[in-house]
Amino acid sequence: MIFNPRRSYLLLALILFAACGKKGGGSDDAVKAFDREAILEGNIGFACMDDDVESRVASLLSQMTLEEKVLQMHGDRMEDVTYALGVERLGIPGMVLTDGPRGAKPSPATTFPVGICRGATWNTALEKKVGEVMGAETRAKGADVLLAPTLEPVRHPRWGRTQETFGEDPFLVARMGVAFISGVQNHVMASAKHYAANNIEDTRFTVSANMDERTLREIYLPPFKSAVMEAGSATVMSAYNRVNGDYCGENEHLLRDILKGEWGFKGFVESDWLVGTRSTVKAANNGLDAEMPGANYFGDALVAAVNDGEVSMEVIDEAVGRILRQKFCFGLDRNPVADPSIVESADHVAVALQSAREGIVLLKNQGGLLPLNKETTGSIVLAGSLADFTNLGDYGSSSLAPTVTTTIKDGLVAAHPGTLFLDTDTLSGEEETAMGDADAVVIVVGNFWRDEGENMPIVDPETGLYTEDSGDRKSLNLKPEHEALIKKAASLNDRVIVVLIGSGAFFMDGWLEDVEGLLMAWYPGMRGGQAVAEVLFGEVNPSGKLPMTFPKSDAQLPVFDNTSTEVEFDMWHGYRLADREGYQPNFPFGFGLSYTTFEYSNLRLSTDAIKAGETVEVRVDLTNTGDRAGDEVVQLYVSYEGSAVERAVKELKGFGRLSLNPGETKTLLMEVKAEDLAYYNMEAGAWTVEPLTATLKVGPSSANLPLGAELEVR
Ligand code: GLC
Repeated sequence: MIFNPRRSYLLLALILFAACGKKGGGSDDAVKAFDREAILEGNIGFACMDDDVESRVASLLSQMTLEEKVLQMHGDRMEDVTYALGVERLGIPGMVLTDGPRGAKPSPATTFPVGICRGATWNTALEKKVGEVMGAETRAKGADVLLAPTLEPVRHPRWGRTQETFGEDPFLVARMGVAFISGVQNHVMASAKHYAANNIEDTRFTVSANMDERTLREIYLPPFKSAVMEAGSATVMSAYNRVNGDYCGENEHLLRDILKGEWGFKGFVESDWLVGTRSTVKAANNGLDAEMPGANYFGDALVAAVNDGEVSMEVIDEAVGRILRQKFCFGLDRNPVADPSIVESADHVAVALQSAREGIVLLKNQGGLLPLNKETTGSIVLAGSLADFTNLGDYGSSSLAPTVTTTIKDGLVAAHPGTLFLDTDTLSGEEETAMGDADAVVIVVGNFWRDEGENMPIVDPETGLYTEDSGDRKSLNLKPEHEALIKKAASLNDRVIVVLIGSGAFFMDGWLEDVEGLLMAWYPGMRGGQAVAEVLFGEVNPSGKLPMTFPKSDAQLPVFDNTSTEVEFDMWHGYRLADREGYQPNFPFGFGLSYTTFEYSNLRLSTDAIKAGETVEVRVDLTNTGDRAGDEVVQLYVSYEGSAVERAVKELKGFGRLSLNPGETKTLLMEVKAEDLAYYNMEAGAWTVEPLTATLKVGPSSANLPLGAELEVR
């Protein structure tokens, strides 16, 4: 054999590489829980940091009149979308902004499951695809900014816009938000909203959410910090409410100190619509860049304020510069072509269906009733007035309708043509008999737009009249007629499956024990009915995990005051509260069943000690020990021992999905930075990585963490 030095070195290198890979350092065959580079791929948000845009912006600012500059700092008019103007003579393009978190308005468009359902997928790779579809359809409709995602962690399930966000935990919401924004910003600007702590709907225009700095930093801001610093969100929408007394649209601490100062935000802040801007001088000086949708404060009044010396030209130039930078980075001056033909394409609809499939959470499956066997299951009775209702979510700003919606009735009848559908919540005698004789009973109950949603004048589609309904939920109870229907079904048949529709937690005492199957389907979007049927019949193995705690009663919840104009927020809600108070909720954060079983093993860390600036690689093996393929969301929580301050009993600091065939084992790789374990030190006014012993716990839910490992933080 002729000695070929090049080939030998290559061979040697491969051997060395393979060897070091086995020691668990370097890149073994582990699946990355959060594939940062894949998620960020194509995100224009980071293309903005380049010099020729800066020089172009500077040159334009030197040519623009004050009136032309101020024209950039407000919307022009709101129709089905909102229009903002450009400056023709200088080649500055206008800008079109449209909602929202469920898809690109106006209807029709691909209508996704609501954010909370997508939060239940814990699938950042899929959520990036969702963002890409929504971004592409936004562009296809000739718009430049998608007013999404909603990133407030859910403090209390009665909040009327719970459906729009990704869940109760800041880490989960942050990761899903980064994925979504990166997808959207492959096409158009995203808008991280509503900054910040917009967690009560009925008093949203006036309430002040009062909290200490640690609560603000550790609970309510992390999704926005990630949106800006990890996903380069082009815009941030300031919220209607006040935080510690100051309206968010003129809150210097939020806008200048934190967002533009500490986080180095390069995009622009637009106010929420109509009453999101509350002043001219204070708002401009405190960091608001654009009033939407019109010019109550940022029109002539702002020109006058500059001429009177109350607002400096530097403030104006900084705001206008931010707006121009994003316009050019996202190519608005290149007149991107709108191509409506891609809206609701089969590929796009397929992503909406996949989100529904993965967001449905199987909460109870007694005696292996589910999945129903299509062949051997004879008569199925489907009951409930919501089963055939087009129930895509609220009629607030995020409302959107596709050309065709698959209801649960559509999905079940298509999957099992013999299904008897009772479009009612109260049964007649013969309906009771049919239900009693059925092989299986499916009951659909829950909420619709009148029960919860954005609090705004809404045109009732049935009557065509304006109604003030919706807003915060009155309670977490099911409607009495829905509870009665469940109890009736349970008294007639011992194979009853309840499908819950809504934004989140319901109280279940009084019927949970009496039913055999329970699914949480949220508002599952335009193909939600198909996804529900696929889960019921086992074509899809459910993999959703709760992105919010389902408590037993109000006693397990923080106070929800949606009438006062001053409310106190603290760090304790959801699983953090449950752990602190020792509550056992009906279903814990991160919980979800599968039709197969999984085994966790071999938790190992790349090091047993880290200090600030360092990262630990956490690997865990997962085996599918059942007889069917399935996905599992692995969760990593951290507990702290020896902290200088009170910490949560545990906090989510990592998660990832694995798809496994029966008998298959894969390794998941999660990374935890020392900074992820820091607390916000109010005395120092800074994040503090403190010396302590962290215990990293891994498992299928916040209440089931079979594996643990200690990590010294120095
Ligand atoms: C609404 C909402 C906001 C929406 C905006 C434009 O009031 O609070 O989420 O993007 O106005 O519709």
